Amino acid sequence: MQPKHPRESCSIMTDLVLPSETNPLNNLFGGELLARMDRAASIAARRHSRRIVVTASVNHVAFNRTIPLGSVVTIEAKVSRAFKTSMEVFMDVWIEDRESGVRAKANEAIYTFVAVDETGRPTQIAEIVPETDLEKARFEAALRRKQLSLVLAGKMKPNEATELKALFQ
Ligand SMILES: CC(C)(COP(=O)(O)OP(=O)(O)OC[C@H]1O[C@@H](n2cnc3c(N)ncnc32)[C@H](O)[C@@H]1OP(=O)(O)O)[C@@H](O)C(=O)NCCC(=O)NCCS
Repeated sequence: MQPKHPRESCSIMTDLVLPSETNPLNNLFGGELLARMDRAASIAARRHSRRIVVTASVNHVAFNRTIPLGSVVTIEAKVSRAFKTSMEVFMDVWIEDRESGVRAKANEAIYTFVAVDETGRPTQIAEIVPETDLEKARFEAALRRKQLSLVLAGKMKPNEATELKALFQ
């Protein structure tokens, strides 16, 4: 299978925050953002693998900044690392100031998707070759995050998480 680059999976979703999507403080409801990110990330994973993809794990979400009603929200999703059948997708979330048009970073998130065949069985995907410094840094750290996710899901023993353990030694 021909290796690919993260830019080939890049998926950008821009949408407004409407009243039905907010909490009592008139900011975007967290679950709504999670769903939007799931959609953007699944498109990126599909573009990388050209397969049916399913969400295996939400690895990290930081709601660092509120997103007010009426905001224009842009989610940029890219596959940061491809393993055998699974992919890590990294997302940057931006909001845009109405008057100046200046973009500010609101959130980051990391999801894991698995490519599957028509029967739902995991299937092999292409490797990914990072190009930029940021892509290289995210690629490097992805194996540690995969191990942490598997340990938390009870699918890997902590003493087998060698990359993750190396962080603390
Ligand atoms: C995700 C799913 C396909 C994995 O199937 P499985 O039988 O556990 O398959 P495996 O154990 O071979 O795992 C497949 C890959 O997923 C990875 N994986 C599984 N669970 C994971 C987790 N919690 N975190 C990170 N990676 C995970 C495995 O490490 C493996 O990766 P690799 O092949 O790249 O090394 C299966 O659990 C599933 O269909 N889950 C439901 C998905 C879904 O419906 N999502 C929407 C929820 S509403």
